[in-house]
Amino acid sequence: MKSELPIGVFDSGIGGLTVAREIIELMPNEKVIYFGDTLHLPYGEKSKEKVINYCSKICEFLLKQECKAIVIACNTASSLAIKNIEKEVGNKCLVFNVIDPVIEFVQNLKSKKIGIIGTNATIESNVYEKKMVGPNSISSIFSLATPLLAPMIESSFHDESIKKKIIATYLKNDNLQNIDTLILGCTHYPLIQDKINEFYNGKVNIISALDSIGLYIQNELKKKNFLNKKNYIKKHEFFISDFTNSFQKSAKSFFNKEINLKEIHIFNET
Ligand code: DGL
Repeated sequence: MKSELPIGVFDSGIGGLTVAREIIELMPNEKVIYFGDTLHLPYGEKSKEKVINYCSKICEFLLKQECKAIVIACNTASSLAIKNIEKEVGNKCLVFNVIDPVIEFVQNLKSKKIGIIGTNATIESNVYEKKMVGPNSISSIFSLATPLLAPMIESSFHDESIKKKIIATYLKNDNLQNIDTLILGCTHYPLIQDKINEFYNGKVNIISALDSIGLYIQNELKKKNFLNKKNYIKKHEFFISDFTNSFQKSAKSFFNKEINLKEIHIFNET
């Protein structure tokens, strides 16, 4: 029975759609329920208490939808709220974050100098440095907060030259010189991965949650016998806390088809 239940995926905005699409493509039998907390983004500029509070309400909503698993498709929420989420959700469903699969993936690479970019909150939490322990070849890790990137992506900002300039200004930072691997520590960033790759002329290995999260979740579901074996057409559902045309447009261009977005009020605020 549990195997037929949906997988809940959430983020502050469109970034988590990159993770949702990965799950949908890799596991076509699964139904995804997506929640984008557009009312409160960017999470990277919020206090830990606020992010914990938003996540708590979102998980409550996803549990009401009877999700068999919740995927925290947001690095900021994964850094600040994971302990609370795991505690609150308990054994009601599985919980996945976007950081652990990346750590596992990177530790199996031959990287020596790693750069990490993410929101202010993620970088300040030092979550990647703390988790990247144990014997491996990595000699150094440098991290840099790149707070303008998520809002730039979220607003589907189209001026290519300004976009390029913002990205280059961040990546030219002294902390990120001579790296061989760059971790995109924010689920919004795969949406500009081509531009980042262009900046490095393809000479830096760019890693994001998308390199590993799908298989990671699939393996865990398989181990628990939670993979849906029934092959019937399911409609994925997409909820956001504040409807915006730019989200609607981005979702459509991201999935290459019309997405039925529903605004839903799960927070006690207007
Ligand atoms: N996509 C989110 C992350 O991975 C957060 C962007 C934001 O809301 O600041 O951190």
